Amino acid sequence: MEQILQGEARAAVLRQLPRLLLPWYDKNKRDLPWRKDTDPYRVWVSEIMLQQTRVEAAKEHYIRFLRELPTVQALAACPEERLLKLWEGLGYYSRARNLQKAARIVASEGFPDTAEGWKKLPGIGDYTAGAIVSIAFQKPAAAVDGNVIRVLSRLLGDARPAEALKTSFQKELQPALPQGRCGDFTQSLMELGATVCLPASPLCLTCPLLALCQTKSDALPLPKAKPARRQVSMTLFLFMQAGKAALFRRTAGVLQGMYGFFYVEEALSPAAARQKLQKAGLTNFTLGAPQAHRHVFTHIEWDMAAYAVQLPPPAPADAAPQGFSPAAEGPLAAAAPQGFSAAAFDAAFAPAAHADAAALEWYAPAEIRKNISLPSAFRWCLPLLREEGEKEG
Ligand code: ADE
Repeated sequence: MEQILQGEARAAVLRQLPRLLLPWYDKNKRDLPWRKDTDPYRVWVSEIMLQQTRVEAAKEHYIRFLRELPTVQALAACPEERLLKLWEGLGYYSRARNLQKAARIVASEGFPDTAEGWKKLPGIGDYTAGAIVSIAFQKPAAAVDGNVIRVLSRLLGDARPAEALKTSFQKELQPALPQGRCGDFTQSLMELGATVCLPASPLCLTCPLLALCQTKSDALPLPKAKPARRQVSMTLFLFMQAGKAALFRRTAGVLQGMYGFFYVEEALSPAAARQKLQKAGLTNFTLGAPQAHRHVFTHIEWDMAAYAVQLPPPAPADAAPQGFSPAAEGPLAAAAPQGFSAAAFDAAFAPAAHADAAALEWYAPAEIRKNISLPSAFRWCLPLLREEGEKEG
C-alpha cells in the first residue's frame, strides 16, 4: 500500500471523482428499477429497502410494493398487516413501520427537500437523507454507506475504523458533488463499490479510479471484530388441527410484533418433545420428524428444530373438558378430550415458552402464505405443515 493521502492531496483526489466516475457510471450502471425516475417517494422507498438488503433481493419487492402503494398517501393509509406482508423477505421490519410513520407525516406536511428535513423523519439517518436529497432533488448532500466507505478508504489509503471514516467522508465528499448530477454521482460511488471495488477480490484492473488508488487491493478497510452473537437453542412446535396451524404474535425481543410458531428455548430430542407434549395434556397427537434450521440475526443466532404436531379434530363443544379455560378457546384447547387444559399446557411449557395457550391463533397454511407476514426465521417451517386433505407421507 502507498501512503495515506492527507490535507490538500486528499481533497484534490476527491475533486477528481466526478470527472472519472460519471462517464464510467453512464456506461456501466446496472438497469435497476429505482433508476427509472427520481420521484422522491420512489427514491425514498428504494433507499429504505436497500439499507440492509441486497440489490437483487430488493428489486422484486420494490416493484411489487410500488405497484400496490404508488403514492405516499397510499402508504400512509395501508393496513399494517398488509404492509408487513409486502415487506416479507426483506427483514428488519422496523424499517417498514418507520417508513409508514414517516409517510403519515409527509402525507400531511409534504416532502422535505433538505437532508436536515429528511433526518427529522423516523428511520432516516445521514446516509439515507443524503441519498434521497442528492438523487431526488439534485442537491449536494453526501451519502456514505458501507460501499462508499470501502471505495474511499482504499482510494485514500485510510485505515481508520469505519465510524471515523464515515464522519470524515460525509464532510469531505460534500464539495466534490457535481452540480446538476449529484444523484448520479452518489449512485456512481455506490455502483463502483457494488460491482468493482468488491469486499474481496476487487476488480482493480477495470476500475476508473485505478491510477489514483493508494491501495489497489482489498487491504482496506481493516476487518471489524465480529459481533459476539448469543446462541439460542429452540424447539418449535407446529401445532396443526383441522387443517389450521397455530401462530402467535411476538410481544418482545427480536421480531417483536411479528407472527411466529410456538417454541421453547431448549433443544428437545423427539422423545423429550413427545414427553413435553404429553405433560401438557396432549396425549393424542402425531409428531413429525424434526427439521433443523439456523437463523442468524445481528446479535443472536437461533438454532432451531421444528416438529409438526398433528392434533386430532376438535371434540364437539359439549365435550369440552372440565377445567377448560374460555380464554384458550380454539382448536388446541378443544382438542383435548383426554383432559387437556390451557393451565396444564402453560405449566408444561413454562418458563421457556414464548406464548401461552391463550395467545395461539389458528390459520390455514394457505392463508398464512397469502395474508400473514411470517418472518423468514419462521417461514422455512411452512413446508412442514401438512395441508388438510393432503396425503400422509
Ligand atoms: N444501495 C443503496 N442505494 C442504492 C442505489 N440507489 N442503487 C444501488 N445500490 C444502492
